[in-house]
Amino acid sequence: MIYLIGFMGSGKSTIASRLAEKLQCSCIEMDESIEKQEGLTIPEMFAQHGESYFREKERDFLRSLEGEAVVSTGGGVILSKENCEMMREGTVIYLHAGWETIVHRLKNDTSRPLWSGDESEKKQRFEDRLKLYKEAAHHVVVVDDKAPEVIAEEIAARLK
Ligand code: S3P
Repeated sequence: MIYLIGFMGSGKSTIASRLAEKLQCSCIEMDESIEKQEGLTIPEMFAQHGESYFREKERDFLRSLEGEAVVSTGGGVILSKENCEMMREGTVIYLHAGWETIVHRLKNDTSRPLWSGDESEKKQRFEDRLKLYKEAAHHVVVVDDKAPEVIAEEIAARLK
């Protein structure tokens, strides 16, 4: 299993589908799969049941994975040590996007409950998580100013 991790807006879903095509394996989008299972969108889950409920579903979903696939995770998957341990049984790739890139990409985003609050709160969340992404990863790929195809190629080369 190959897990793509990284902050919101780092391009995990786009890269995961390109990489899965290249490797000719399936692609799993965790957030989308959890939304389907629950019959709720992520903002609805957060609003109705709270973040901890979503985190439980996220952990259960990871536990249920088997076989070979490229998995696009949610940005907060690394908040749980258990999740990190599960993912490290496969290969974990951290897509590192700099703060400016994230801000630019999520400028008009209203679909992410944790992309909220003032700028300093968001930046703090980003900075607090950097260490966790790096610790969880087998490989770090910098994504700033690179096309998805180039990034997918870079990852495929590292996996050889
Ligand atoms: C989250 C990131 C989201 C989603 C949820 C929580 C986070 O996924 O799982 O809103 O804690 O960073 P993306 O990274 O795909 O935006």
